[in-house]
Amino acid sequence: MNRQVQVDRRLTSSKLARLLLTVAACSLFVPAAVRAASAQAHERGGKEIVETVCAACHTTGVGGAPKIGDRKAWARLTSQSLTSLAESALKGVRGMPPHGGNPDLTDTEIGRAIAYMVNQSGGDWIEPVSKFDSATERGGAEVVQAYCARCHQTGAAGAPRIGDRTAWIPRVKQGFELLVRSAIKGHGAMPSRGDATNLTDSEIRAAIAYMVNADSATTKRP
Ligand code: HEC
Ligand code: HEC
Repeated sequence: MNRQVQVDRRLTSSKLARLLLTVAACSLFVPAAVRAASAQAHERGGKEIVETVCAACHTTGVGGAPKIGDRKAWARLTSQSLTSLAESALKGVRGMPPHGGNPDLTDTEIGRAIAYMVNQSGGDWIEPVSKFDSATERGGAEVVQAYCARCHQTGAAGAPRIGDRTAWIPRVKQGFELLVRSAIKGHGAMPSRGDATNLTDSEIRAAIAYMVNADSATTKRP
C-alpha cells in the first residue's frame, strides 16, 4: 500500500518534470520566433541601405572604397560570390568597417546592399530574400491570388494567363528554372518578383507551377 503511493508519487513528479521541460522549451522558442518576425518586418531593400549607410564612402571612394558606378572596380569584385563579398562586408576589410559601421544591419540587408551596388555598376545580381520568410512560405495558389493574378488573370500587357496552356507551354519549353529566374529578375513588362520583394524563390516557383497547371476551365469562359 505504502509502496503503491510512492510509485504514484514518482510517476507524478516525472510527469511534472516533463511538463516543466516542455514549458521551458516553449518559452525558449517563442522569443526566437518573435525576434525573427520583427527582424523580417524591418529588413530593408538594397537601395535604401546603400543610400542611408554605404553611400557615405562608396559614392566618393574615400579610403579606396569601390565607387558605385565604377564598372571596373566592381567587375573585379564580382569574380567573388555574393556570399564571400557579404562575409568581407560583415567582418570588415581594411578601410571597410564591419557591417559598414552599422551593427544593426542583418546579413540579408548587407547582401541586398552589395547586390544593389553591383547592379548600379553594370552587374546583374539578384538581391537575396529574407531567410525569415521561409518560416511562413505560402503555396502557389495563395501567392498567385495575392500578387500575380492582377496581371495574369486578365492577361494585362501581354502577361500569359493563368491556366492558358498555349501561352505557357512555349515559355516552359525554355526550361522551368529559366522561367523562375526570369520572374525573379523581371522580363519586359513583368516586374521583378511581380513587384512583391518579400516573395521567396520557392514561393515564385510554386506560383509559376500553379499558373501553368491551373485548370484552364476555371479561368477561361466558353
Ligand atoms: C566608412 C566607409 C565605408 C562605409 C560606410 C562602407 N564601406 Fe564598404 N568599403 C570601404 C572601403 C574603404 C573599402 C575598400 C577596402 C579595401 O579593399 O581596402 C570597402 C570595400 C567594400 C566591399 C569589397 C570588399 C572586398 O572583399 O574587397 C564591399 C562588398 C563593401 N565595401 C560593401 C559595403 C556595404 C554593403 C556597405 C553598407 C552597408 C559599406 N560597404 C559601407 C568603406 C566603407
Ligand atoms: C504588373 C503586372 C504583373 C504582375 C503583378 C506579375 N506579372 Fe508575370 N508577367 C507580366 C507580363 C506583362 C508578362 C509577359 C512579359 C513578357 O514576356 O514580355 C509576364 C510574364 C511572366 C512569366 C514568363 C516570363 C518569361 O520569361 O517568359 C512568368 C514566369 C511570370 N510572369 C510570373 C509571375 C509571377 C510568379 C507573379 C506573381 C508573383 C507575376 N508574374 C506577377 C506581368 C505581371
